[in-house]
Amino acid sequence: MATRAPALNQKQPMSSAGEQFDHSSYPTLLTSLMLGKQTLRNRVLHASMTTELSRDRKVTAELIQYHASRAAGGAAMTVTEPLGMAPHQRELSRPQVVAENLDGFTRWAERVESLDCRLIGQIQDSGRGRHYAGRTHDALGASALPDDLSWTVPHALHADDIRRLIEAFADASRTLQQCGFSGVEISAGHGHLFHQFLSPWSNRREDEYGGDWAGRTRFVAELVAAIRALCGSSFIIGLKLPGVDGITGSIGLPEAGEITELLTGQRQADYVCFCQGAHARSLEMHLPDRYGERLPYMPMVRQLRARAGGTPVVALGRITDPAEAEAILRDGDAELIGLGRALVADPAWLKKSASNRAHDVRYCISCNTCWGTIISYHRPIACVNNPRVGQRDETDFWPQPADTKRRVTVVGGGVSGLEAAWVAAARGHEVTLFGSSATLGGRARLRVHVPGGETITSIYDYQQTAAARAGVHLRLGRHADLADILTTRPEVVVLACGADMIPPDWLPIEEQALVPDLRTAVAALIGLSVRQPGTAVLFDADHSEGVYAAAELLNALFEHVVIITPRDTIATEMQLVTRQGVLRRMAEGRIRVITLATPVWSETFESGTLEYANVYTGDIGQIEDVAFLSYATPRTPLDELARPLREAGVEVHLVGDCQSAGELLSATASGHAVGNAL
Ligand SMILES: Cc1cc2nc3c(=O)[nH]c(=O)nc-3n(C[C@H](O)[C@H](O)[C@H](O)COP(=O)(O)O)c2cc1C
Repeated sequence: MATRAPALNQKQPMSSAGEQFDHSSYPTLLTSLMLGKQTLRNRVLHASMTTELSRDRKVTAELIQYHASRAAGGAAMTVTEPLGMAPHQRELSRPQVVAENLDGFTRWAERVESLDCRLIGQIQDSGRGRHYAGRTHDALGASALPDDLSWTVPHALHADDIRRLIEAFADASRTLQQCGFSGVEISAGHGHLFHQFLSPWSNRREDEYGGDWAGRTRFVAELVAAIRALCGSSFIIGLKLPGVDGITGSIGLPEAGEITELLTGQRQADYVCFCQGAHARSLEMHLPDRYGERLPYMPMVRQLRARAGGTPVVALGRITDPAEAEAILRDGDAELIGLGRALVADPAWLKKSASNRAHDVRYCISCNTCWGTIISYHRPIACVNNPRVGQRDETDFWPQPADTKRRVTVVGGGVSGLEAAWVAAARGHEVTLFGSSATLGGRARLRVHVPGGETITSIYDYQQTAAARAGVHLRLGRHADLADILTTRPEVVVLACGADMIPPDWLPIEEQALVPDLRTAVAALIGLSVRQPGTAVLFDADHSEGVYAAAELLNALFEHVVIITPRDTIATEMQLVTRQGVLRRMAEGRIRVITLATPVWSETFESGTLEYANVYTGDIGQIEDVAFLSYATPRTPLDELARPLREAGVEVHLVGDCQSAGELLSATASGHAVGNAL
């Protein structure tokens, strides 16, 4: 098969701002590329991300800023979230941004393009697909068949409707071009409408838009041709295609290869990238998380690149490290690197990497919190390792000096206290941090030793580097009491002392020493590798991800693991994309889940039998041969130092769990906010 080698130009400047980067560390990543008739200054593109930064479905200053920050941080191209462009979408698909306020689109393009970054609008329609349960009425699709998540059955589009849609999307692309956009990306993966046409599982049509591969790809092929005809040869057209979608009878590698070959064969598209998953149990494949391997899409990308006939390929999927990105390009596995979450975590990822400051990158930990904020909570995109997403000064952020310098003492060396400490010190305050452990990172450090936790080091590694740069005085390895704190003569104290799990009601006070909470238990188990006989039982009144990571650890150490929860299912305190992985791993690990139940304390426990009762009926069940029992419950803040400090006239702030027990997101966010407000 003939391949079309992309044009290289090693001498292309890195940025319009005239920044000079060191090309020796990541030479290929910093090489420019001709995409169609446009030059990209390097090989990094920001993958499409829905941000919830629009308001009333209009472009906002925040949305423009989000993309401008990624452009200022070095990205050569940035793909927007889906833009509702066809008239029918306004009501049916309810996109975040609709093409009404064209001055907003123009401002958006002017700002991003002025930073030598190509702005690409995404064309997408959800069709029948939803990211959560709950049927949608009036959805449109390829055939009147349900998706696997919401069980929405769409109306099958008539061939005339398809042609009208193509016309509308092409017109809208022309409008974007007139507003100054460099191109569009057709999002034809992830289970959305175009994907529904491509897949034999969702497309059972017998007209020209179904039947065989030529028929199923016709909608996308005609759309590409219509955009090209209207917008000309210099307008970038990108294709996001389904790689493997994880549904039996749908699209696997051979099918993705056919689709790729047919849709790139006419050489109408300027780039192609591949995603995974669909609106089904395979939703988790959209955003490969930290429980899987690094670069999980790459074996697929390599194979599909061979079917792309020389159309430049974007490698995408949990690429977080510049050395990995460089290796992908150097080995000829792709022409471009697509970064989604990595650029949410650090918009200056490339700028820092290219200036020998890769150690300063706040790396994506693949926790998918960003997805949770937009999909589950419909809140602006947020990140555990970037407390400033969307803010003006986000790119390569360093705090502004405070007007008045004060003595600040931080109590607690976890990620919340450490965040507050480095930010306050960087503002010029004299900061002392007390940590009870000899190392920094607090309970996040414990999480690192449990399955799926390895990447969390990125949070406190960055904070530690920043704390050293900002001059935080560390007093580690002692549990600071009131007197210790007062010896630092603080004007401000930030309490980041964490929170403790509340012993459950079913556990008698006199037995509490026998049954540790999950954190204490995990700390004791880390490092053990010999399997123990018997069953480990975990009472789960927490439902966040760490509980199930601990269950996996227990599963490696005990013969059986049983989770008992008073709710009707598990893992309710997390968004679906991560939850699917949890449910799958619990099932694959044969971890037994007993729902709607709480343990009942009785003498039988001494002989290894734990009783539990149904929360409604009180019916008793038994688990035999119990060798381990622990609990994960709501946490109470360890804030008892606040009162005496306030009585001593000190200004006190609480951050992280000490303020309100929550997840990593609130820990770094609250620490950052307090440090930056001092
Ligand atoms: C918060 C979030 C929002 C996303 N929104 C979109 C979207 O609107 N359109 C799209 O095609 N992909 C979307 N994606 C998928 C990304 O473009 C990308 O395919 C995926 O995150 C894998 O790349 P990564 O590992 O670099 O993050 C989204 C991903 C995340 C995490």
